[in-house]
Amino acid sequence: MELRMSTTAELMLNGRKWSLPIVEGTEKEHAINISSLRDQTGLITLDDGYANTGSCQSAITFIDGEQGILRYRGIPIEELAANSSFVEVAHLIIMGHLPTHEELRQFSDLLTENELLNEAMKYHFEGFPTTAHPMAILSSMINAASCFYPELLHEGGRSTFMVQAARLLSKVRTIAAFAYRKSRGLPIIYPKPDLKYTANFLHMMFSQPYQDYELKPEAVKALDLIFLLHADHEQNCSTATVRMVASSRANLFASAAAGVCALWGPLHGGANQAVLEMLQQIHDSGDDGSKFIAAAKDKNSGKRLMGFGHRVYKNYDPRAKIIKKACDDLLARLHISDPLLDIAKHLEAAALRDPYFVERKLYPNVDFYSGIIMRAIGIPLEMFTVVFAIGRMPGWIANYKEVMEAPTRIYRPRQVYTGAALRHYVPIKDRR
Ligand code: ACO
Repeated sequence: MELRMSTTAELMLNGRKWSLPIVEGTEKEHAINISSLRDQTGLITLDDGYANTGSCQSAITFIDGEQGILRYRGIPIEELAANSSFVEVAHLIIMGHLPTHEELRQFSDLLTENELLNEAMKYHFEGFPTTAHPMAILSSMINAASCFYPELLHEGGRSTFMVQAARLLSKVRTIAAFAYRKSRGLPIIYPKPDLKYTANFLHMMFSQPYQDYELKPEAVKALDLIFLLHADHEQNCSTATVRMVASSRANLFASAAAGVCALWGPLHGGANQAVLEMLQQIHDSGDDGSKFIAAAKDKNSGKRLMGFGHRVYKNYDPRAKIIKKACDDLLARLHISDPLLDIAKHLEAAALRDPYFVERKLYPNVDFYSGIIMRAIGIPLEMFTVVFAIGRMPGWIANYKEVMEAPTRIYRPRQVYTGAALRHYVPIKDRR
């Protein structure tokens, strides 16, 4: 018989009993609502890395980490990966439903209309040194783009939101490609209105003024799949950052720029670059991966098996399954044999039978194979996390929209202070 969850939780403290309501989600997820805890008891909760804290109620993405389930707006990621496209999924995530023919046409038209940057923005790119990481450029330029749309600061409304969302989604791809071209000293290539979203990105990255890049359908499809698989992932570090910034009522572009910064770190989106660097290092040292696995298990080595482990998935990351197959297919179709893929497969097999990884439920995550696909397409290492950021944009936009449509209190966590107790100011002449 199924146990019914109580509607309240009771907290015993200093001989008194407090009652806290239980909230239930669509998929029977339960949370103790502690919003009144401090008022009632004077206490707060402390939760390292927010691992047990629900920061919001959201209707966008469902994850069951124990069972390896990921759904966007209720639809399994496997069905979307097999049948949909990044732009259609972006509409699904942002608007909450799969678009009709007409809605998809309108959304695609909006993306095309907004693909160019204001010409003045070209000069901003000149100011960055060639050594600048494209994630730094991306976050700066998304913020800079907001300067050209003052209405961002004043307008809310559903219809204008769609324009702002399409602007951001479209321009981020142009900014990313321009950043890459500038970093290589290459002339900027403008988008082509007749190309679809992902193909246009590859065109802006790799075409030359005298010759268009040859778009290989399998490469376009693989990159579109990478975008789609990254499109949202509930309250991860960067999305929670976007919501945090949005809670102060900052504009969409400013909130997304903050998301880019959070994504950059190697424990988050930066992991896809770190995975390839790790595989290359293993290859260059002549190791088959065994030595690296031993180091990753040793806490003093400072090494981790990058692309392994996840805060939420304690079973195989469903995106990793899809991307591993896509990786095998792409390499076979393009007739590429990549020694780094062999090392990745060896690492995966070794880790999956190693008690250290098994006991800690550490499985490959989406980043483990995405880098090999990007390498096969010719995307340079420093652009890997940028590709992730382009893909994650629909999720950030949808989360921003949720915050704006049901404005929450400003995000403002508390702390347990562990610094000095009261002490008094000492004039500089008396200090030792
Ligand atoms: N290699 C070796 N050991 C690991 C790894 C790893 N990749 N990941 C976790 N562990 C160990 C930890 O050392 C810890 O061991 P302990 O219990 O003996 O102290 C245990 O597994 C639990 O790890 P936590 O760090 O507490 O897990 P957390 O949920 O905080 O971190 C994270 C998750 C950041 C993804 C972590 O697994 C990691 O660093 N992985 C490598 C980086 C990576 O691939 N990031 C991409 C994440 S997916 C994404 O952002 C798209």
